[in-house]
Amino acid sequence: MVVPEGPAGAANLRYEGTEIELPLERPTLGRPAMDVSALGGHHLAVYDPGYANTAAYQSAITFVDGEAGHLYYRGYPVEQLASSSFLEVAYLLIYGDLPTSQQAEEFVARVRDPKLVPHAAIERLFDWFPQSMHPMAMLSMATEALTAYAEDDPGADPRARVEAAGIRLLSAMPVFTGYAMSVLRGLPKGRSNRSLDYSEDLLQLCFTIPGSDHLPDNATARALNTLLVLHADHELNCSTATLRMVASSGAGFYSGVSAAINALWGPLHGGANQAVIRMLKEIKDSGKPLSHFLERAKDKMDPFLLMGFGHRVYKSYDARAKVIRQVALDLVEKLAPEDPLLDIALQLEKVALEDEYFVLRRLYPNVDFYSGIIYRAIGFPDEMFTPLFVVGRSAGWVAHWLEMTTTSNKIGRPTQIYTGPKERSVPKNPATA
Ligand code: ACO
Repeated sequence: MVVPEGPAGAANLRYEGTEIELPLERPTLGRPAMDVSALGGHHLAVYDPGYANTAAYQSAITFVDGEAGHLYYRGYPVEQLASSSFLEVAYLLIYGDLPTSQQAEEFVARVRDPKLVPHAAIERLFDWFPQSMHPMAMLSMATEALTAYAEDDPGADPRARVEAAGIRLLSAMPVFTGYAMSVLRGLPKGRSNRSLDYSEDLLQLCFTIPGSDHLPDNATARALNTLLVLHADHELNCSTATLRMVASSGAGFYSGVSAAINALWGPLHGGANQAVIRMLKEIKDSGKPLSHFLERAKDKMDPFLLMGFGHRVYKSYDARAKVIRQVALDLVEKLAPEDPLLDIALQLEKVALEDEYFVLRRLYPNVDFYSGIIYRAIGFPDEMFTPLFVVGRSAGWVAHWLEMTTTSNKIGRPTQIYTGPKERSVPKNPATA
């Protein structure tokens, strides 16, 4: 690990005649952060809506350079990892370095161990899920249910226990996703084929009609692998921050992942990939020009947003979106050349990137803008897009939980600016008050 250079230094805050020294924490990459722990002693708090300027943890896993549009996993630019296997990248995130070929082999064997196929009781859970249930809710419930069946060694040290739980999660996720897809399709569940590569197995679990011996084609499996790699981690986004918040209370790993899945579901976060396709369909079906939708997105009185555009951290083209855009162009041409939504997306991107509103606010396509188009070309229904995000992001969640377990952390507990009534007494007779 690179040690930050130079004296850490401090920032000084003047408040009501007192000078408060706030020591600086200097990261290896990114903005220095003021340690504001002393503020409580001065009866002061920090107001930072959406935690946009709050560094709640020290982490060595992932760094997003939003100004330049770069994303690094353990220091490696993500575009250089885009064609590595997803499990190699998961190993990198979890253990900190790329695996040797022997380490990669052992890791794959652990994750793909047939004994880790989820317990039959969890499989039966999916029989109770109605076809109308969103697969994100199914994944969240099935993940929580792993708590009951995880035969992890309670005597093992905390690191080994989290590692074992993480491997069980990575092992289960494609199976859960396949089961969720079978509920949506109203078809019997497929069986995990552990001799296949991770992405190939995910595809066959989702698309093979049980009893047939259909195998996914290589190009599609490669594209899916790339998407899993690009979604594997993204520092302290909403769902990972949720995971860490749960971890900080000492709750169990699967409960934290289950909570993170629910946070990811929202349309402003991972659910945007489904929302993008809904928006593109709306544009197509309306027959209205793109300018109409652009004007709506700019109108603050209209809740309509350009889904798949904008990002809390990226203020230039999202590194992942560039790779995904190219995958979309290649795959749609091969699998769904007639799909009009790709054309609409390309045109929308062009007009938005030339529009002053989007230019001034530095709003660019994010990872979700083109990923839904790829999933659609492969044949996934819209509801499955965010679950596929979960499969990739599970790798990052394991890494973050492990880091929480092996570093000292306080319980997460933000403060507030209270705006309610001051103390008052309950009236003697409330009904007549
Ligand atoms: N369409 C129109 N205007 C937008 C959009 C958009 N997609 N995104 C941001 N803006 C505007 C805001 O209204 C704001 O305008 P203002 O300065 O005039 O008030 C300005 O751009 C800055 O945006 P913020 O709201 O401050 O950005 P924030 O960091 O809070 O939100 C977010 C980021 C949630 C991603 C937002 O851009 C958005 O809602 N995008 C659409 C949903 C989306 O694609 N989410 C996926 C993100 S990637 C991921 O989580 C995997």
